[in-house]
Amino acid sequence: MTKIRIAVQKSGRLNEDSLRILKDCGISIDNGKDQLKATARNFPLEVFYLRNGDIPQYLRDGVVDIAIIGENVLVEKGSDISIAQKLGFSRCRVSLAVPKSVKYNSIQDLQGKRIATSYPNTVKKYLEEQGVSSEMHIINGSVEIAPNIGLADAICDIVSSGSTLFKNNLKEVEVILKSEAVLAVSPNISEECREILEKLLFRIKSVLQGRQ
Ligand code: PRP
Ligand code: MG
Repeated sequence: MTKIRIAVQKSGRLNEDSLRILKDCGISIDNGKDQLKATARNFPLEVFYLRNGDIPQYLRDGVVDIAIIGENVLVEKGSDISIAQKLGFSRCRVSLAVPKSVKYNSIQDLQGKRIATSYPNTVKKYLEEQGVSSEMHIINGSVEIAPNIGLADAICDIVSSGSTLFKNNLKEVEVILKSEAVLAVSPNISEECREILEKLLFRIKSVLQGRQ
């Protein structure tokens, strides 16, 4: 029997809520955090635990059929991938921030400056739209430390509670985009899997309605 393959964040902020929504849909999965793959007992579904940043490529390649992923990751790496449903959790912003002590008037202030980020495509596009060009320093984590160690003049990263910015003496100066977890669909999904997806979406929608 065909099973739909879903990618879920292996560890990190989306992991728990992603598994919870599947559970609330009445789907029971052996929770194998150490396993990279798990099968649902009562729904034709297989869960693949993957790294966030790898998920757009897995969708594109058709290695998985669907994924629960932050919209921010799709904007950065998978603007070609479609969204079937917004999921209402893991809300955050992708923002530019500068040291608190720096005077900031407008985006023009970032002209020629060094920006540390894990979201180079998102930042570049935003700056280009405003006619600003800056130097990108791509870092995969702990981005907020960059200005303090003299590596960058500004950063662009996810802001949720704002506490990481606060702890690093940074202030949010531009919100580039608002994001939440979404259900994304492979452009190569089969007809059979699409039917399973419809059933899953029906359950997800009623769970989301119940949460309101
Ligand atoms: C994420 C993100 C921000 C922070 C935002 O980092 O990169 O730094 O959370 O959340 P906040 O506004 O609630 O503080 P994470 O802690 O996941 O670590 P990483 O950057 O090293 O991946
Ligand atoms: Mg961080």
